Amino acid sequence: MLRVFLSTLTLAVLLSAQALAADAAPTEAQMKRGKVLFMQCQACHQLKAGAPAVLGPNLGGVLGRKAATAPGYAYSPALKKANLTWDAATLDKWLLRPGALVPGNTMAFAGMPKAEDRAALIAWLTVQTAPAKAVAGK
Ligand code: HEC
Repeated sequence: MLRVFLSTLTLAVLLSAQALAADAAPTEAQMKRGKVLFMQCQACHQLKAGAPAVLGPNLGGVLGRKAATAPGYAYSPALKKANLTWDAATLDKWLLRPGALVPGNTMAFAGMPKAEDRAALIAWLTVQTAPAKAVAGK
């Protein structure tokens, strides 16, 4: 029984490590899933670089960007002080539970509990917000 549990656990850890490493080559399934998941974000976030902030800051080019640096957006003091850079691992923690990574931030989002969902959304965001695409107007 314990062995079954342990090997399931190992598998889960391996799978999520693989999912996190997926930024190199996102799968088609991740792209589809990520697009659907982003519907939870788009009430508050624009992706197109240069588009005005809605409730939340513009997320164009967010991968690799320092937190709280989208021009013209009034961030919370908590996020400004957090000194984070939005790489895949940091985004994964943020999406799991924003309030745990940055207590006192003002993003009203409870969190995305499934590791594979977060990985798919991050993979999709990486593709969607790449600077080359923003320049091409896509
Ligand atoms: C109810 C509105 C709302 C929703 C829904 C929401 N956000 Fe946010 N988001 C915000 C606000 C507001 C901030 C700024 C937080 C602060 O200043 O403390 C923010 C900040 C962020 C940041 C930091 C950006 C930066 O420039 O540092 C990221 C990344 C982010 N959100 C991603 C997401 C993703 C991905 C989703 C969907 C899973 C999502 N958000 C859902 C409102 C929202």
